[in-house]
Amino acid sequence: MNEIRPILWDDGTLKLLDQTRLPAEEVVVEINDYRGAVAAIRDMQVRGAPAIGVTAAYAVVMAATELATTDHVSVDRASFLAALREAGTVINAARPTAVNLQWAVRRMLEVAESEPDLSQVNHRLLAEAKGIQVEDEEINRRMGDNGKELMPEGGAVLTHCNTGALATSAFGTALGVIRAGWESGRRFQVFNTETRPFLQGARLTSWEFQQLGIPATLIVDSAAGIMMQHGEISCVITGADRIAANGDTANKIGTYSLAVLARENGIPFYVAAPTSTVDLSLDTGEDIEIEQRAGSEVTHFQGTPTAPVGVEALNPAFDVTPHRYITAIVTENGVARAPFVESLKLATGNS
Ligand code: MRU
Repeated sequence: MNEIRPILWDDGTLKLLDQTRLPAEEVVVEINDYRGAVAAIRDMQVRGAPAIGVTAAYAVVMAATELATTDHVSVDRASFLAALREAGTVINAARPTAVNLQWAVRRMLEVAESEPDLSQVNHRLLAEAKGIQVEDEEINRRMGDNGKELMPEGGAVLTHCNTGALATSAFGTALGVIRAGWESGRRFQVFNTETRPFLQGARLTSWEFQQLGIPATLIVDSAAGIMMQHGEISCVITGADRIAANGDTANKIGTYSLAVLARENGIPFYVAAPTSTVDLSLDTGEDIEIEQRAGSEVTHFQGTPTAPVGVEALNPAFDVTPHRYITAIVTENGVARAPFVESLKLATGNS
């Protein structure tokens, strides 16, 4: 099987597998400037916290290239860095919840600022962006290894949204753990939610499981309760967009409901995320900004109305699951359990 790699850097052009078109069409969009990358993140042609981070890193590369060809800044390091920081602010604003975006931009700006020779900056930035991309796949494979034994031999796992290769450089986070469990020989059923309203589950996760040859059954988001109540789910695993120091976890809208239902029904609830998703600057999840997206994503599907014209719709894209509902957080550095204040410090190398 060919690995799914949604992000490709090809000699100055960023090529993204357009996730708004899947599964109907496999279309690659070509991006040549950082504003184009910002638009692709905002419009969700690329989505998923780690994939957004990788795209943001290449956006910084494209911003630096643009600045280096503008005469007045190419001679003056201070103006170049100031302009690059401004571009970084624009990139950071593309989507607010996934901390991997800001994490990647910060990491890139630190590289630019640490290079005294202006003629070397672009070369260093490109190497760093490629490094972030390669590292992400390695991290995901380690996460898979660390989490695979949580997959229930003979049981059933439920997952939400899309956390596979499409949401990362390759392999995935929560979907990567499911894949690693399956590839290690464990056999279990897989259920995935549709994930209203953008249908990351129905469109993207179902497509990925088909590509991987892992049998998976699609359910509507609101079927999760009855399935847990009837003993048809052994564990839930999701990804994360931002994890506060105490383990409170922001993830796709509907994750909190699944976690509460899992607790009510005595089912373990796992999160899988790289340590770049952990934001130790926030003590709790209360301060995580929740992205509000256009109501038209709720009232329409691919341009076709699914609600009366003119109806008001609210569209919070994420929610925060309090840490008390989370059984464990799988990271590339091991499986963190309560108290998360301690275990996340250890996992992120901050103890
Ligand atoms: O709005 P999206 O599709 O970017 O949201 C994605 C999620 O919520 C994922 O669960 C999360 O980013 C983890 S992806 C590996």
